[in-house]
Amino acid sequence: MNDGPAGTPDRGGGVADLLRGNRRWAAQTERDRPGFFSALVKQQRPRYLWIGCADSRVPANEIVGLPPGEVFVHRNVANLVVHSDLNCLSVMEFGLSVLGIEDVIVCGHYGCGGVTAALQPSEGRLFDHWIRHIRDIAKFYRERLEAIEDPAARSRLLCELNVAVQVVHVEESPVVQALRKAGRTVRVHGWIYDVGDGLLRDLTSMVAEVRAFEPA
Ligand code: CO
Repeated sequence: MNDGPAGTPDRGGGVADLLRGNRRWAAQTERDRPGFFSALVKQQRPRYLWIGCADSRVPANEIVGLPPGEVFVHRNVANLVVHSDLNCLSVMEFGLSVLGIEDVIVCGHYGCGGVTAALQPSEGRLFDHWIRHIRDIAKFYRERLEAIEDPAARSRLLCELNVAVQVVHVEESPVVQALRKAGRTVRVHGWIYDVGDGLLRDLTSMVAEVRAFEPA
């Protein structure tokens, strides 16, 4: 029975350990910040909407050092913002229109399984329908991707392009367009996380590049 990396639950104990871990965490949090939970009961007023990958190595709050109550989160495989995905769109509408969030963060990560799979032939799985959206991006940027010999570097570029395209999808969504038309501020940020060093990188310049291809 080996302990995982610092801060992760012991794999040997299973879900019972999670419940014990939760009691420890709740008690510690209340000791550190008395009244923390009773304040959160009244309402949630998160400042950020996070759209990220479902990957277990990229937990939204943890990697930006924010406690519960600060980040409204939607995660799916490869952090996609699909124009017909009612799940993601509902999260966006609720977060922006109702909760009044102004900053949306689309966060991808290097080594994303969904992105890497999109560079391989389809295997006819359900999952292949989902990552078809990434294959479309790969087709659009084919020349740029094929200019890179190293498969890992190629995957990294597609991870970045995918984030940038999803940022544009957020901006193009009816909910964001309606809010902006009504004078509300919505800023959309594209970030990528490196599982290897724990650091986030800003993709603003790549977002600008991708946006230039889109119709006004
Ligand atoms: Co991923």
